[in-house]
Amino acid sequence: MRSVASTTVLLFLPICQALSWTATPFSPASYPLAVRSPYLSAWLPQGGGTALNQAWPQFWDGDTLGWAGYVNVDGVSYNFLGDPDVPNTDAAKAVQKSAEFTSTQTTFVLTAGPVDLTVTFLSPVEPSDLLNQSLPWSYLALSAAPSDGNSHSVQVYTDISAEWVFGDDSQTVNWTTLASDVVTHQVQLESQDVFNEVNDRIQQGSAYYSTLNSAGVTYQTGQDIVVRAQFINHSTLSNTQDTNFRSISDDWPVFALAHDLGTISGPSDTVVYSVGHARDPAIEYLIANDALQNRSSYFWSQYSTATDAITTFLGDYDNALTRATAFDAQVSADASSISSNYAGLVALSVRQGFGAIEITVSKDSSGEYNTSDIMTFLKEISSDGNVNTIDVIYPAWPLFLYTNPVIGRDLILPLLAYQETGQYPNQWACHDMGATYPKALGHNDGNDEKMPIEESGNMLIMSLSYVQAANDKSFITSYYNLLDQWTRYLVDNTLIPGDQISTDDFAGALANQTNLAIKGIIGIKAMSVMADLVGNSADAANYSSIASSYVTQWQGFATSSDGLHLTLAYNNDSTWGLSYNMYADKLLKTNLIPSSVYEMQTAWYSTVDEEYGVPLDTRHTYTKSDWQSLTAAFMTNTTVRDMLIDAVQSYAADGLNSVPLSDWYWANNGVVQGFQARPVVGGHLALVSREMFHVV
Ligand SMILES: *[C@@H]1O[C@H](CO)[C@@H](O)[C@H](O)[C@H]1NC(C)=O
Ligand SMILES: *[C@@H]1O[C@H](CO)[C@@H](O)[C@H](O)[C@H]1NC(C)=O
Ligand SMILES: *[C@@H]1O[C@H](CO)[C@@H](O)[C@H](O)[C@H]1NC(C)=O
Ligand SMILES: *[C@@H]1O[C@H](CO)[C@@H](O)[C@H](O)[C@H]1NC(C)=O
Ligand SMILES: *[C@@H]1O[C@H](CO)[C@@H](O)[C@H](O)[C@H]1NC(C)=O
Ligand SMILES: *[C@@H]1O[C@H](CO)[C@@H](O)[C@H](O)[C@H]1NC(C)=O
Ligand SMILES: *[C@@H]1O[C@H](CO)[C@@H](O)[C@H](O)[C@H]1NC(C)=O
Ligand SMILES: *[C@@H]1O[C@H](CO)[C@@H](O)[C@H](O)[C@H]1NC(C)=O
Ligand SMILES: *[C@@H]1O[C@H](CO)[C@@H](O)[C@H](O)[C@H]1NC(C)=O
Repeated sequence: MRSVASTTVLLFLPICQALSWTATPFSPASYPLAVRSPYLSAWLPQGGGTALNQAWPQFWDGDTLGWAGYVNVDGVSYNFLGDPDVPNTDAAKAVQKSAEFTSTQTTFVLTAGPVDLTVTFLSPVEPSDLLNQSLPWSYLALSAAPSDGNSHSVQVYTDISAEWVFGDDSQTVNWTTLASDVVTHQVQLESQDVFNEVNDRIQQGSAYYSTLNSAGVTYQTGQDIVVRAQFINHSTLSNTQDTNFRSISDDWPVFALAHDLGTISGPSDTVVYSVGHARDPAIEYLIANDALQNRSSYFWSQYSTATDAITTFLGDYDNALTRATAFDAQVSADASSISSNYAGLVALSVRQGFGAIEITVSKDSSGEYNTSDIMTFLKEISSDGNVNTIDVIYPAWPLFLYTNPVIGRDLILPLLAYQETGQYPNQWACHDMGATYPKALGHNDGNDEKMPIEESGNMLIMSLSYVQAANDKSFITSYYNLLDQWTRYLVDNTLIPGDQISTDDFAGALANQTNLAIKGIIGIKAMSVMADLVGNSADAANYSSIASSYVTQWQGFATSSDGLHLTLAYNNDSTWGLSYNMYADKLLKTNLIPSSVYEMQTAWYSTVDEEYGVPLDTRHTYTKSDWQSLTAAFMTNTTVRDMLIDAVQSYAADGLNSVPLSDWYWANNGVVQGFQARPVVGGHLALVSREMFHVV
């Protein structure tokens, strides 16, 4: 991946000329810094290019997250992280030389006088160890090296503000510092409100900022300008605590840690910090008989205190880095088999997808963790705060299928278990597990956002996809009746779809949607395959013959009269759209749709692309990056496949946007239309998922 950087730079010369540093593989709209859960989500917005010390990090929604860093070299202070203003002090700005992202890491190198500082933000992606994946902590690692061949005295400093537990600036926070094997600052809202958010931030739990204790470590809490001035002036902190608890913006309390690296004549030791946001319980979930269940982040089943988790997490840094680097290399190698542009797009998407999920465990009646009961929850993010939205898990599915299909299963499990209780009144699959994260309270009134064909098809397709990947037939047996109920709904409704919305609800409802109909038909076929796998040959034959008959009729309704393309809606020749649901027929190897239809769509898309891709459909010029990726995965011609991938990548790298990667943008000008930081970018992995190189 690194070796292709020069190609990328050449392709995007106008933007890279404006950058005074190298950006590998490209300069994204926003760099992921610490992205591991819906509430641990720190980014560095870019636009045309913003150095690590030219702006404050932001929460995914754009709110500031105070995170400052200084390095002192021979008594001269340089700011390398955040954009603080400390009156009456002299600190220069370190000069950024490079920025690079991989699937798990974002690394900046900045020059601080005669020393180069390497700043690595590592948010582990641990698909083969779900307990490790559930840890809502991320690493910041620093190392310095002289660039002039001489020896230099070097100290480093970082802090976080109470904005990491923000809802709004006026809220009162309190904090403590523990200095034992680790030095940990813990900060929380004084007024805790379990399971409730303000401005997308959970009003519960604590933020932690920590480092392993060793000689040369100092700490301090207090007003931002006082604590930062202390380090700038003295290269060390005072090991004192401010106990005047107050609001987040009242003399801005910060939580600081410093290290003396001593006099270095070569690369220094690596200094490692962790930042995290944890709470307990994490999720409120509706079980049978209208009862509520509290669910905890999975890691609590192994660690009795946050300090234990942090100590292990920090102590494991070297191994975590080795695992992460191996993971990055695997993803990069797999994606590079498509193209280097694709590898960059995939690398940018991985943390964002994982950053929307939380892996949880329940307790049994005696209060012990039941580690046989793992469920994973996902926040829709930015479009709304729904819990486990099925048509958001569906586009994200390729990421989870590729890395570990069990994560995919654990994401649909809450919906399956809930609908098994019989409390959801509709015959089709429910849209989501709750309107407002992290309250997974179901929809016993049946008034969830109504996407009957969309969600029933999605559940059947994802179920078979999981079963195929994990070879787990018992899953089918467990949920057979529910899956069959949804299939029967599709048999009655998917060939001539009523005036329903699809997942693209922003585009409005439309009758006879071609792309929606084919999802339902593939769903029926998926049930046929599942019935066959568990020996129900009658259902298998029935659903197989229905699906085949429907596909033939669908082709007749949905092909334009000139035979050049599928329409957006039946019998409307002037319309067309991305028929991205055909992807499932390839994914599941159901071979329902004739190859001539794939060839027709491939040829058609090559004639209708705009500068940044193919529009979603004829109603608007906007498009979706996830759906273009699923579409690219079934193109019969690699030129057209690469046209779609390159278009999405050029949008992701176009320097015109500054939000965590948005999936919804204008195909004609590459500008974001709405949404940001959504897990649906997991769909960008559609071309690697088909090969199923998952790690376990
Ligand atoms: C999980 O993390 C622990 C330490 O936190 C580490 O020892 C272990 O190797 C990790 N497991 C895997 C499979 O990565
Ligand atoms: C801080 O506030 C929390 C939540 O109200 C409370 O449980 C804790 O005892 C307080 N800590 C201190 C040090 O005051
Ligand atoms: C830092 O030095 C400046 C300039 O000498 C001085 O005004 C300020 O009080 C000092 N602050 C601290 C915390 O040492
Ligand atoms: C869930 O946890 C909250 C906060 O600790 C508590 O108030 C509530 O009673 C718990 N609910 C259940 C069902 O245990
Ligand atoms: C643990 O969870 C599993 C899976 O939901 C369930 O079958 C089992 O009964 C639970 N065990 C206890 C002791 O609650
Ligand atoms: C096929 O499935 C449909 C929908 O469930 C059902 O109405 C029909 O009776 C089934 N036919 C046979 C032969 O099983
Ligand atoms: C949907 O398509 C079918 C088949 O062509 C047609 O009979 C029906 O009138 C269409 N419905 C609408 C609302 O256009
Ligand atoms: C065909 O689709 C276009 C665009 O959605 C719409 O304006 C027009 O009314 C449709 N025509 C028919 C006959 O439904
Ligand atoms: C693939 O598509 C491109 C662009 O439309 C076209 O030039 C080329 O001839 C196609 N190749 C094949 C084998 O159809």
